[in-house]
Amino acid sequence: MGTLFKNGTIVTASDEVVGDILVEGEVITLIGQSLDSDGHDVVDCTGKYILPGGIDVHTHLDLPFGGTISNDDFDTGHKAAAFGGTTTHIDFVIQPIGGSLADGLKTWRQKADGIAQIDYGFHMAITDLRDEIMDEIPSLLEEGITSLKLFMAYKNVYMIDDSTLYRAMQKAADNGMLVMVHAENGDVEALLTPQLIAEGKTDPIYHASSRPPEIEGEATNRAIVMSGMTGCPLYIVHMTCEESIDAIRRGRSQGAPVMGETCVQYFFLTVDEHLGAPGYEGSKFVCSPPIRSEKDHAILWKAVQDGTLQHISTDHCDFWYEGGVGPWKEWMEAHNGTDWVGYEKQDPSYRRPGKELGKGNFSKIPNGMPGIEDRMMVIWEHGVNTGRLSPTKFVELMSTNPAKIFGMYPKKGTIAIGSDADLLIWDPEAKHTISAETHHMRVDYNCYEGMTVTGKPVMVYQRGKKLVDGDEWLGQNGAGEFIKRKPHAPVL
Ligand code: URP
Ligand code: ZN
Ligand code: ZN
Ligand code: ZN
Repeated sequence: MGTLFKNGTIVTASDEVVGDILVEGEVITLIGQSLDSDGHDVVDCTGKYILPGGIDVHTHLDLPFGGTISNDDFDTGHKAAAFGGTTTHIDFVIQPIGGSLADGLKTWRQKADGIAQIDYGFHMAITDLRDEIMDEIPSLLEEGITSLKLFMAYKNVYMIDDSTLYRAMQKAADNGMLVMVHAENGDVEALLTPQLIAEGKTDPIYHASSRPPEIEGEATNRAIVMSGMTGCPLYIVHMTCEESIDAIRRGRSQGAPVMGETCVQYFFLTVDEHLGAPGYEGSKFVCSPPIRSEKDHAILWKAVQDGTLQHISTDHCDFWYEGGVGPWKEWMEAHNGTDWVGYEKQDPSYRRPGKELGKGNFSKIPNGMPGIEDRMMVIWEHGVNTGRLSPTKFVELMSTNPAKIFGMYPKKGTIAIGSDADLLIWDPEAKHTISAETHHMRVDYNCYEGMTVTGKPVMVYQRGKKLVDGDEWLGQNGAGEFIKRKPHAPVL
């Protein structure tokens, strides 16, 4: 006895066809037309699309960062993701400075074990590439971790130097792994920021002046050159502007194995309107690299349309706009500043520190913004409903490409016999107004507040089990599985 999804418009990265899908256990066992419904639970999908579950390969749940910890964890962040149609994500383990990769992995496993509600994988962010860490890298493959992340920004926190990046690429290439970079020239940023502060330029809008597009373009190009020299597949995260898009286009045309993503916010938000919003509101939109201009928005749409970029992620890393409520100092001391999972649960008014940390000094604003729940609906509205993206291209960008690039295909990322039954019943007529009042993310603002979208997931299934039914949550803690990813994934 299985579940038969009947008469939906099934969309993959290559096809759009009306038909039926039979799910038995956790996987898809049959796809066809007019399938026999005898003995199966039938879900009538007439007038609806059936899409593969969304994949977001760039999230930071429960991340200690900027003097606090990102709000959403593997519980709240997973629910929010699923309500928006994302059923799989990949989060970043951070190697503790002075510690091993295994130490970092142990910490991140604790964040997810018994808590996760959707399926997830891990990338490994290397902060300190000592000789013994070089030797430790191949052991990640046994753990199903096939991607390394290096930060070319955040000097004195996570930033690595060029020789470290180059050595990491050599090692990754030898082991069938992929390198990801946050590409901004952190040395230049670390010089500009104190100069701006000394000139009294302390408001959120000056965050953009401290990280101009040139330093993103420069670092992107530097990483691409190293990728070409080492032959290491490179994936550039959160690309925002003409300078870096030009660099990746050039690298790809010269045959370097480079790929890239942008994030939802970079299509919509601008320095003038959002970072420059009245009062302290601009802090809501502080992330790195910064949001840019309308000119860049158009360049990014073109880059996802023409295949220069392969994925649209979120970089979800949310912080309260008005945080720091309740006995958070005592909590921080009692938990060494690393475990905040239970803090807000004690009292609905409690909030860990957030964006308010940067009042009077933009460089102290925790970097990052929410979006894990909004991603699919916002890109459907402004991509598919406007004709910029076909439904098949939408599936390619939001699900299939990330599954392929990160070694999860065809278990994830498509609708095929044998694939996990991660399915979205997507109603193209359903209207929804995005708002912090109704979203499921644990944060007191939404970047797309008031945006009305037409098209949303009305039912969400993971491995055959229904997680979302309209407004109802049916998932459970511990049901989300860790995905062991495969090495030697293709360069798209
Ligand atoms: O501002 C951002 N992007 N915060 C999250 C960390 C990162 O750099 O991705
Ligand atoms: Zn049957
Ligand atoms: Zn980053
Ligand atoms: Zn990030």
